[in-house]
Amino acid sequence: MKGQAISPYRLRRMEPEDIDQVGLIEREAFPTLWPHTSYRRELKNQLAMYLVCVQTGEYEPQPPKVVVSGGLVQRLLVWLGLSKPTVTPSAPRERITGFIGIWKLADEAHVVAVAVQESERRKGLGELLLLGGIEMAIEARMHAVTLEARVSNWTAQALYDKYGFRHMGVRKAYYSDNREDATIMTTSALTSEEYRALLDRLREQFEERYGEAERVYS
Ligand SMILES: CC(C)(COP(=O)(O)OP(=O)(O)OC[C@H]1O[C@@H](n2cnc3c(N)ncnc32)[C@H](O)[C@@H]1OP(=O)(O)O)[C@@H](O)C(=O)NCCC(=O)NCCS
Repeated sequence: MKGQAISPYRLRRMEPEDIDQVGLIEREAFPTLWPHTSYRRELKNQLAMYLVCVQTGEYEPQPPKVVVSGGLVQRLLVWLGLSKPTVTPSAPRERITGFIGIWKLADEAHVVAVAVQESERRKGLGELLLLGGIEMAIEARMHAVTLEARVSNWTAQALYDKYGFRHMGVRKAYYSDNREDATIMTTSALTSEEYRALLDRLREQFEERYGEAERVYS
């Protein structure tokens, strides 16, 4: 997507119909995670905010829905083959390429997950999702953004580093699968002039490199 004025990817809030695709991305990105996240529950959680990255114009056709409506007599007629059920075309499904989840804990935004589909990595989507998460945290008047990362996850740490996250400490044996330590990374105050200037610079660089990406947070 280099050199384009408009990015072919956009961010929007996660919806219930995205759950299957987000679940697949989670399983691919975090194969040792158990139990898997209940996104149905997360979408009802007042403290959670989830964004998905969508490839614009990429649709998967869906089979039409067969609806048997009306009372018992109508249902019986359909069952006996004497009447036809209503067939409504289903809306095509958008292609999800990544997601980010944030919990609002007091005045801090805590990134609980960020992942990009493996085949879509190194195209700026992790950056777009993190930028979206930070902008959403600013909109929600959070003071700072914080997260944990595996000490071995240099890829993710490089991304967080770029967005001004600093190492604040270590949680020993934080991950239950291999007892790996987590590094805690936090931004400076989101309202500080220094952080706003960094974010403006990164936003500009992102748009120059990948094009302008639509972002809808409500
Ligand atoms: C971490 C992750 C979200 C990055 O997504 P991505 O779309 O590939 O990243 P981007 O293309 O937006 O890269 C943004 C920055 O991340 C860093 N980065 C990403 N991939 C990298 C790699 N393979 N090697 C080194 N740095 C890398 C770089 O700083 C990069 O900036 P640059 O392009 O200016 O060098 C993705 O690798 C992923 O889903 N990993 C599995 C899940 C995971 O580990 N999540 C984080 C849990 S803490």
